[in-house]
Amino acid sequence: MTAKLIKGTEIREEILSEIEKEVKKIKEEHGKVPGLVTILVGENPASISYVTLKVKTANRLGFKEIQDNQSEDISTEDLLALIDKYNKDDSIHGILVQLPLPKQIDEKKVLNAIDPDKDVDGFHPVNVGRLMIGGAEVRFPPCTPAGIQEMIVRAGVETSGAEVVVVGRSNIVGKPIANMMLQKADGANSTVTVIHTRTKDMAAHCKRADILIVAAGVPGLVKPEWIKPGACVIDVGVNRVGEKISEKTGKKIAILKGDVDFDEAKEIAGSITPVPGGVGPMTITMLMKNTLKSLKFTLGLA
Ligand code: GUN
Repeated sequence: MTAKLIKGTEIREEILSEIEKEVKKIKEEHGKVPGLVTILVGENPASISYVTLKVKTANRLGFKEIQDNQSEDISTEDLLALIDKYNKDDSIHGILVQLPLPKQIDEKKVLNAIDPDKDVDGFHPVNVGRLMIGGAEVRFPPCTPAGIQEMIVRAGVETSGAEVVVVGRSNIVGKPIANMMLQKADGANSTVTVIHTRTKDMAAHCKRADILIVAAGVPGLVKPEWIKPGACVIDVGVNRVGEKISEKTGKKIAILKGDVDFDEAKEIAGSITPVPGGVGPMTITMLMKNTLKSLKFTLGLA
């Protein structure tokens, strides 16, 4: 059996066109567009490429987008002052500080200074709490978990009563997606197990999973024989395992590998996300969705 491919690149286009239509309508009816500021500190190449993609996507959707680049040696105080400025700016609905930050910056202090109602990353403790409570409390589900849930739902996979096994317990993916899948809500209502580096028998847990979400950051961690036949496999791993020359551009690009051995896993799973082109494209898409949602809140439309 060959699994159905859950393509993030295709789902991204569906969602972005939904957002684009909504932005146009709100602009016509209310004269406002979503405003997003992306703050980039320093010149980390991976961060530059993420931020460039965020800016490009926001522009394509008709958002107001400010790219605020700061030098590597900025102090925590100066960064806090910048955040305060955007917290007070009514034309800005989403503030994103690209991580990681340089060592001299108190990252926790910076993230906690963002107005929770503009925290489109969903990293502020208030939004983590809102997510845990669930239902109408939730304002900004963190982008990668939100993208994962959207992919599962749009692939037509039943989540109610499903055994979901999450591999990895990070604050950005593992913990929030586990929390989201157990909520009493559409696209959730699952029975959730979280496994991690101290789990005694990872294979036994994975073998029970109707939906297996792997966010460990270890290439090929999940073996094909751990996958239950017909399961939905979501591979969040984006591991750089080497470099190659792109056929399209002739430039050096990273060779990416997921946490699951894709070629063998696709013969066992019912549906599976590829790497690249799976979960990756969904993160920025959901950031755009959160920024639109933030504007809608200010207009009483959400
Ligand atoms: N760095 C890598 N991923 C992310 C993300 O989702 N949000 C932010 N702010 N920084 C990141």
